[in-house]
Formats: sequence, structure tokens, C-alpha cells
Amino acid sequence: MLPGVHAIVPILGFIIFFLAPKTQIPMAPLSFAIKGRVLTAEDGAEYLNALNRFSHVSILKPQHIFFPAELDDIPPILNYATSNDPPIELAVKGGGIHSSAWASSDGGIVIDLAQLNKVALSPDNQSVIVQGGAVWGDVYKVCQEAKLEVVGSPLWFVGVGGFTLGGGYGPLSGEHGLAIDNLLSAIVVLADGRIVRTSPTEEPELFWAIRGGGNQFGIVVEFTFKTHPSAGPFTVGTLIYDGEKLPLILKAIQDWKANQTANSRLNLMFFRPGPSFAPKIMLLPWIAGSASNVEEILAPFRRTVTPLLDKVNSVPDMFALSHGSDASFAAAPKRLIIRGLFIADIWGDMMMEVFKRWRDHTEGSEDVKSSGIMCDLTFPYKITEIDPSATASHVRRPHYWFSVQGRSNRVEADDVNKAFVASVARYVREYNTQKTGEDFGAWISMAQGDESAKDIFGDNLSRLRRAKARYDPQKVWTKGIVIEPASE
Ligand SMILES: Cc1cc2nc3c(=O)[nH]c(=O)nc-3n(C[C@H](O)[C@H](O)[C@H](O)COP(=O)(O)OP(=O)(O)OC[C@H]3O[C@@H](n4cnc5c(N)ncnc54)[C@H](O)[C@@H]3O)c2cc1C
Ligand SMILES: *[C@@H]1O[C@H](CO)[C@@H](O)[C@H](O)[C@H]1NC(C)=O
Ligand SMILES: *[C@@H]1O[C@H](CO)[C@@H](O)[C@H](O)[C@H]1NC(C)=O
Ligand SMILES: *[C@@H]1O[C@H](CO)[C@@H](O)[C@H](O)[C@H]1NC(C)=O
Repeated sequence: MLPGVHAIVPILGFIIFFLAPKTQIPMAPLSFAIKGRVLTAEDGAEYLNALNRFSHVSILKPQHIFFPAELDDIPPILNYATSNDPPIELAVKGGGIHSSAWASSDGGIVIDLAQLNKVALSPDNQSVIVQGGAVWGDVYKVCQEAKLEVVGSPLWFVGVGGFTLGGGYGPLSGEHGLAIDNLLSAIVVLADGRIVRTSPTEEPELFWAIRGGGNQFGIVVEFTFKTHPSAGPFTVGTLIYDGEKLPLILKAIQDWKANQTANSRLNLMFFRPGPSFAPKIMLLPWIAGSASNVEEILAPFRRTVTPLLDKVNSVPDMFALSHGSDASFAAAPKRLIIRGLFIADIWGDMMMEVFKRWRDHTEGSEDVKSSGIMCDLTFPYKITEIDPSATASHVRRPHYWFSVQGRSNRVEADDVNKAFVASVARYVREYNTQKTGEDFGAWISMAQGDESAKDIFGDNLSRLRRAKARYDPQKVWTKGIVIEPASE
């Protein structure tokens, strides 16, 4: 038996016994057929498998799960849901990675894009055409064969859909900007069932809105991204230190930052590895291309404090890189609650306070000791080259992303994890606002759903509301951070 199969049995049991839909909406019988599959609870194990999400906090029980096999399958599903009285809730699933329940529904319909995952290079190899249900691993596989790269997730299993609609911060963003900055065009199924192409010259307001506006404008069934010549091999370091060395590490990071180049990135994490579960700091420096000065770049992390572990590997391309953490994700507890936000710097005082809160939280109980903090320090200047009015992504001054991640295997631990995640996120957001004089808000890709539209979209909310009035006036897309259509 494969490792992991044992774990599935209790999970299915849990779903069967504890997840009855809260609301039974009266639904007309299905009066249409699609080329793809439809699952209901009567389909047993297949249906239960299809409920699964990366974070088990995101699992809900819909009445129908549709797997469109072609674009034309989607409009009749939308029509069925919107013409029912009352309308049936619609949720759209890309990779199923978001730690909210936005891609799931309790008693409604899930449109699972998993079968729409084809990827093809354009004839000139200058762009890659990706269906809306693909995950980044599907894209990297095709690009790997042609020795090309594209700005995408550091992890293969993240969905291209949700990732891109939330901006898309990848390891290559230091050199090439966000995923949305590399988006050339898209095909969108609108709430009324129309299928439109959008680009800087076709439905340009829709093109502006989907680049940062999330799931509020339609189902993106195809993305066309710009490709770049192979950026590998990538040098990836893993350095681990005792938690008490944090002040020295923060100083080392400032030294590293002073010389940071576009091809260099650093992840900082707080975690408690077994068997001792003592607080540790992990640094994952990353350098693209055959840099000759790797030792020089890594010097700050070795100069004043000796790591407990110091490992440097070379990986050939994004495909290989995106599988680098598979073992640790397989072992991680499955109830994940994340909040993410943007910060202009990783200030020492702020990180010391975050560390203290994280240490106290994870000391308290066995259930939550896998909760962690992760900061991504990708070279922050490429993303500022974009005109701030070109996309709906509203933070265009130099910044990094910060995330706080509550993890456990037990439902009973959700509340304490939620409180921890909310308190650290609030603290960091306020700290950043006080330091910069500007509220960077919360990040939609790592939001929980209790944020306001203003928190997420900032100054761009009013323009997004006008776009909403044009592309979804009836508010068919009710999941996520809902944008009110502008009234005029
Ligand atoms: C472990 C982990 C690491 C992460 N690392 C990064 C990172 O490095 N950089 C980064 O930018 N983000 C990162 N994220 C955040 C991630 O990008 C978001 O959670 C994203 O929403 C996931 O996309 P998905 O399609 O897998 O999610 P889903 O849960 O399927 O969907 C999320 C939302 O997007 C909508 N959606 C998905 N596809 C479509 C589509 N085709 N059309 C319309 N709406 C759609 C869904 O309806 C839902 O509202 C990470 C998340 C996790 C859990
Ligand atoms: C595009 O890439 C493919 C796969 O490597 C290759 O066979 C083809 O010749 C390339 N086409 C162009 C125009 O470079
Ligand atoms: C930046 O790099 C230069 C050249 O290698 C080095 O002399 C200097 O010490 C580095 N700066 C910091 C702050 O480490
Ligand atoms: C969108 O947000 C950016 C950054 O705050 C701002 O520069 C731009 O003017 C905003 N656009 C609109 C239409 O408000």
C-alpha cells in the first residue's frame, strides 16, 4: 500500500459523518447534458474524492460537482444555477489550493475545472496557452521540454487560475514581474454565459479587472502567458538555525538585501522540526542562472552565525524546483488556515514580535505546533515598473509578501489557529502601515473571506465596482471577496 493511503480512510469517514449540507436548496432536475462528468453524493467514493481540497478546512458538500470537458459545457451550468428560484450558489475550482472555502459549496454547485488543463506553446514559442484548470506543474512540464520558463508558482500543485487572479508572485518575479504582468490575453466565460476573449485591445476593462480582481468577473478558461528563455539551473540553499539566533539572522538578511539582484530570492520561515520541536529558523536562498558568485551571495548567512544545517543544491528548471517540497507537504497537517499580506521591509522589531507570538502559540499545544510563518523576499523592483493603473493589483511600490499559517489535523484546533493567524496578520499590517504611511491591505490569494473589498482592492475598488456592473451586474459570483456593482 502506498504511504498516505491509510490516511484517506479516516478522512472519508470524517466527510461522510460530519459534513451534511447545511442548506438544501430546492433544485430543478438537470435538464441539460454536458460532455464532461457530473457527480452527486450518490456517486459515493468518487464524489467524496472530488470534495477534497489542499486545506481540509476548505471542504464543503455541494449538491452537484460538474467537470466541464469543453468550454461549451459551462454556459448551460451557469444558466441552470442562475435561473433556479432561488439561484443556486456557484463555486469554481482551479487547483483547489486556496485556504478559504471559495472553491467549494455547501449545498450548491461546484464547477471543477480539473479536466480543462491542457497546455500548449504558441507556434513561435513566445507564449504558452494554458487552460483555466491547469496547475503550474502542467505548465512547467511543457515549458521544460522547450527549455522555456514562465512566471508561476514555486509549487507544482498550485492552480494557475487562483494564483494568477490574485497577482501571482513566483520565483521569477524578480526578473519578470508578477504572473499578471506576463499575461497577454485570456478567454473568460461571463456570468451571462457569453465566452469572450480579453486583452489590452479586446474588452480591455475586463482584462484590467481580472489582473488582480480575483474571481469576481467570470471563469477564466484560458490564459496566454509570455514565455522566457530557460532561467536555470537554480541554486537552492537550505540553512537552519536555532530560533534564539534570530537577531543575527535578521541582520544577515539586511546585509544580503543590500546586494540583492533580480535573480536572487530568499524565503524565511519559522518552524518546529522534530524530534525536539524547538523553534528554528529556516532560510531558503535561491539564485537563478549559473551565477559564479554563489558563495559571495550566501556569505552573510554564514559569516556571523553558523547554521545547524547548510545544504546547497542545484535544480535544472522550474518543473524540478516545483517538486522540491513534496515530502514536507505530504507530511504536513492538513487543516491549513493562511493569511497573507504585503510588507515594504522585514523590520527587526516587527519580526522579533512575530517570532515571540509564533513561539508562544506553537508552544501551547501539540495540535498547532506545525503552524508557521513564512516571508518571501523576491527582488521587489521589477513589479514597480508597471504603470499602477495598468492592472487591478494595487500595491505597486516595492514590497515582499508575508504569511502566517495555522496548521493542525484536528477541527478542535481551528479556532485557536484562526485567532493566532488573525492576530499576527493584524499586527503586521498595522506595523507596515505605521512605517510606510500607507495601508497595503490584505492579499486575496491568502485571505480568509472576512476582509472587506476595500481591504483587498484598496484604491482600485471604485473602478472594479464599475467593471463589476458591466460584467456581473446580477452578482452571480457570490464566493470570495464580493465586489458590489457600481450603481450609476
Ligand atoms: C502552500 C501554499 C503556497 C502558496 N504560494 C504562493 C506563492 O508563492 N505565490 C502566490 O502568488 N500565491 C501562493 N499561494 C496562494 C495561491 O496562489 C492561492 O491560494 C490561489 O488562489 C490558489 O489557486 P487555485 O486555483 O489552486 O485555488 P482554488 O482554491 O481552486 O481557487 C481559489 C479562488 O480562485 C478562483 N478560481 C480558480 N481558478 C479560476 C478560474 N480559472 N477562473 C475564475 N476563478 C478561478 C476560485 O473560484 C476561488 O475563488 C500559495 C498557497 C498555498 C496554500
Ligand atoms: C518550439 O519548441 C519546440 C519544443 O522544444 C521545438 O521543437 C520547436 O522547434 C520550437 N519552435 C520554434 C519556432 O522555435
Ligand atoms: C555587498 O557585496 C560587496 C561585494 O561583494 C561586499 O564587499 C559587501 O560587503 C556586500 N555588502 C554587504 C552589506 O554585505
Ligand atoms: C489603482 O491603485 C493604484 C495603486 O494604489 C493607483 O495608483 C491607481 O490610481 C488605482 N487606480 C484607480 C482607478 O483608482
